[in-house]
Amino acid sequence: MSPRKEVVGASDVGGGDRGHRIEATNPAAIVGDSALESAIRPRSLEEFIGQPDLKGHLDVVIQAAIQRGESVDHILFAGPPGLGKTSLAQIVANEMGAGFRVASGPTLVRGGDLAAILNSLNKGDVLFIDEIHRMSKSAGEVLYPAMEDFKLDILIGEGPTARSIRLDLAPFTLIGATTRTGMLTGPLRDRFGFVAHLGYYEVPELTKIVQRSSGVMNLKITGDASIEIARRSRGTPRLANRLLRRVRDFAQVNEAEMIDMETARRALSFFGADEMGLDKIDRTILETMCIRYGGRPIGITTIAATIGEDAETIEDVYEPFLLQSGLISRTPRGRVPTALAYQHIGLDRPADSGDLFG
Ligand SMILES: Nc1ncnc2c1ncn2[C@@H]1O[C@H](COP(=O)(O)OP(=O)(O)O)[C@@H](O)[C@H]1O
Ligand SMILES: [Mg+2]
Repeated sequence: MSPRKEVVGASDVGGGDRGHRIEATNPAAIVGDSALESAIRPRSLEEFIGQPDLKGHLDVVIQAAIQRGESVDHILFAGPPGLGKTSLAQIVANEMGAGFRVASGPTLVRGGDLAAILNSLNKGDVLFIDEIHRMSKSAGEVLYPAMEDFKLDILIGEGPTARSIRLDLAPFTLIGATTRTGMLTGPLRDRFGFVAHLGYYEVPELTKIVQRSSGVMNLKITGDASIEIARRSRGTPRLANRLLRRVRDFAQVNEAEMIDMETARRALSFFGADEMGLDKIDRTILETMCIRYGGRPIGITTIAATIGEDAETIEDVYEPFLLQSGLISRTPRGRVPTALAYQHIGLDRPADSGDLFG
């Protein structure tokens, strides 16, 4: 068997981080991408850029809880990936001076696994459950009474001798994160005291994020180059930071001392981040809708099947940004590409049937 070779290419921009190592003299630059990611993650509400309303509300909720000497009410953060849900959860714990424990929805299969975690929490701890919509039903059944009354019902034994005992838990704060907006209704939602929806970021906010991260990474970058990176990052801080790291790689390999507009533009097109910040998959979706289906309304599952992506990912990750950018719209019969979509992929929009046959 021939050894498999890992191909690292343009897809790296949208995919996982692979810990690029570079030789440099500053400490931030000799570590890999994931260590950098943790170095540039905001630690306090003050460092967290954008989402002003949400920050204002959180600040009040946190200050009030501190004044009362209680833990913060349970919080749910909803929104597409990379907008700051995990960062905010950590920030709440930091601001409360509380312990931070992490669990992930898909790994919470048996109710007992969650019960063990809950039972080990200390008073005031924050328990963060990422992708909480993917937690199993039996984990949910353990979680609901725990959230409501800080109680754990445990079944001991089996058959006729089985009995249930009730354990007291230390008061804690549950913070859930979900990419599923549909999750915002239903029994889980009702148990959160505060539900916050994170929206895509504006270019000036992303520019600030790029500048802050450049500072942490010790990079020299011009103002217009940071704006250019911000413009092409799909309204998403995680992508802004990732693009900045790729632009840094490009500048370094091309021996550019300073990241200026020209270097940024060349690097961004090299890595496939286009003028509107769309990546390869975004463009494939638009091409599928405009060319293959000729602009007719189609459903998410059709798009997913055609391009070989998972329908949930298209709905959670890709569709919201395409909708927000005015590239596609929703109709009762399905999704359709807009005139802007045709313009963006460099095609003329087909005249509609009225013009064609009238
Ligand atoms: N508001 C923000 N200000 C500064 N950086 C941010 C902000 N939101 C996110 N980031 C950056 O983007 C990265 C991804 O954020 P994260 O909290 O992991 O997103 P999510 O959990 O929603 O997927 C973080 O490591 C952080 O560096
Ligand atoms: Mg996260």
